[in-house]
Amino acid sequence: MKNFIDIKELSKSELTSLLDNALQNKRSKKIIQNHLNGKNLVLFFEKKSTRTRLSFDIAIKQLGGFTTILNKEDIHLGNDKESVSDTINTFGLYADGLILRVNDHKTIMNASKLSNLPVINALSNLSHPCQCLAGLMTLLEERGSLEKLNIVWMGPITNVANSWIEAFKKELGFSFNIFCPETWFEKYSEKMKEYGISADLDGIVSHQINNQILSQADAIITDTWKSMGEDIKTQDYDLIKEFRVTDNIMKKAKSDSVFMHCLPANRNEEVEASVIDGNNSRVWQEASNRLFVQKEILKKLF
Ligand code: CP
Ligand code: NVA
Repeated sequence: MKNFIDIKELSKSELTSLLDNALQNKRSKKIIQNHLNGKNLVLFFEKKSTRTRLSFDIAIKQLGGFTTILNKEDIHLGNDKESVSDTINTFGLYADGLILRVNDHKTIMNASKLSNLPVINALSNLSHPCQCLAGLMTLLEERGSLEKLNIVWMGPITNVANSWIEAFKKELGFSFNIFCPETWFEKYSEKMKEYGISADLDGIVSHQINNQILSQADAIITDTWKSMGEDIKTQDYDLIKEFRVTDNIMKKAKSDSVFMHCLPANRNEEVEASVIDGNNSRVWQEASNRLFVQKEILKKLF
């Protein structure tokens, strides 16, 4: 494997062993390892980041590597400035690997073609595979297995949701259902079409909350309604409000059902404060697991 761009590119066994190794490494408390042995990784951010930036920076250093972190404002890349290909060529002169957070998924695809270096997707408008891996690891850690778990995604089908859909398609044994308003689903389908990806989610998506499915849920996941770089019309806000994860929603799920969210979260928008700050929330565990899954990605690529 040269790059880590999307979960769909991993085989089922690569995915399960990555999760198992991440959990084993966390439990072993073996913090310092030397897989990167002095390698230099460039982290480039076109959009803001707190967790991804920190967890990759620390993971790389704990594996014996070095990091250079660049924000969009720091470098010449831009329409009327330096091209993607000249920028990627420049990175390649000094670095051993690239970790990219971009507005347009095509930038990651281009970078992976233009560069001989390993490229890691640190979030694009289409996917956030590292986040989904951390979510999967959290459920594995909590329940011992992903088999037979029922996972419900509530709200917009975001980049994070899209990576969960890809993970679901790997048939790891969990069920996955999405509750999302119809017009929001159409927005998602249009975006997928733009990228030549089929948005065939028959049997997964319902446009209202399905209490039967909810009553079996082991995990409920949501994401911010307004992803970075996106706008929402007022009428769309009115439609999504019904899909807020409330105490009432959590009560309808299994009593030990956990709540997960990639963060940053908007309390009392997509999730009630009492849910995200309550006993069944696993958001901090999920965020801390970013470190462990990303270490496994790095070990795999280098
Ligand atoms: N979940 C996540 O990727 O967080 P940041 O945007 O803070 O990196
Ligand atoms: N869907 C969110 C995820 C942030 C980690 C966004 O793209 O802004």
